[in-house]
Amino acid sequence: MRIPGAVGLVTGGASGLGEGTARLIVERGGKVGILDLPSSQGRALAAELGENAVFVPADVSDEGQVEKAVAQVADRFGRIDVCVNAAGISPAARVLSRKGELHSLDTFRRTVEINLVGTFDVLRHAVAAMSRNEPGVDGERGLIVNVASVAALEGQAGQAAYSASKGGIVALTLPLARDLAHWGIRVMTVCPGIMDTAMLAGTDAKRRAALVDLNVFPKRLGRPADFAQLVASFMENELINGEVVRLDAATRL
Ligand SMILES: NC(=O)c1ccc[n+]([C@@H]2O[C@H](COP(=O)([O-])OP(=O)(O)OC[C@H]3O[C@@H](n4cnc5c(N)ncnc54)[C@H](O)[C@@H]3O)[C@@H](O)[C@H]2O)c1
Repeated sequence: MRIPGAVGLVTGGASGLGEGTARLIVERGGKVGILDLPSSQGRALAAELGENAVFVPADVSDEGQVEKAVAQVADRFGRIDVCVNAAGISPAARVLSRKGELHSLDTFRRTVEINLVGTFDVLRHAVAAMSRNEPGVDGERGLIVNVASVAALEGQAGQAAYSASKGGIVALTLPLARDLAHWGIRVMTVCPGIMDTAMLAGTDAKRRAALVDLNVFPKRLGRPADFAQLVASFMENELINGEVVRLDAATRL
């Protein structure tokens, strides 16, 4: 898939990894639909990126809003070629805290609803739009990139809900690639390590330094541009499919 002229739909596109991806797609000659919460910076980002970007406010855990938002992007730009599911939340709580408090079931459900069910809902509408694309080289019609986490593989204390939601995304990868082969749609999953985004806001300097130290090489936090570059590689390399890729400087939590 060539990036110039490609149409992306990026959830969580107003901040962090999603924002980096939206910027890269437009900078390299593509178009992008930024799906994020109404309260996000999505409108300002789309205005900054210009006519090749549109903001479609939606909560990924709301079926009606998702259907409408995906349709808005397909209507505005005539197609969807790549869907990057970066919307997510990462609450932290132990199943039984040291004070003896139980993990809230609502928090667990909400995390799975947004991170896992929301990802699936967006991608199912996106692949329906992709199925209408004229097939390109080797019959390719589209690409899905889902965002899990190293916490899907090595979850820490306090990450039960987050790890469960991200583990589901990892497990989805191969069956989705198999389901969508008929349509020429590839499916990839990224497991980022520690990335310098709003998700890390509130982490003090000492803790940040400790997180950086876990990286084998390079000794720095990941950046949105690192993630966006990986998405670009997936777009351009049509043999890569059905795989889970760590983007983590060899960190092991
Ligand atoms: N930052 C990290 O260290 C890290 C590591 C591994 C995985 N991830 C994953 O990367 C993805 C992107 O996170 P980020 O680091 O860029 O964080 P971020 O907070 O900068 O961006 C997340 C975006 O998702 C949006 N969002 C949250 N809930 C939503 C909902 N219900 N509907 C629509 N949009 C919603 C937010 O408004 C925000 O713009 C997330 O799935 C996160 O779990 C992040």
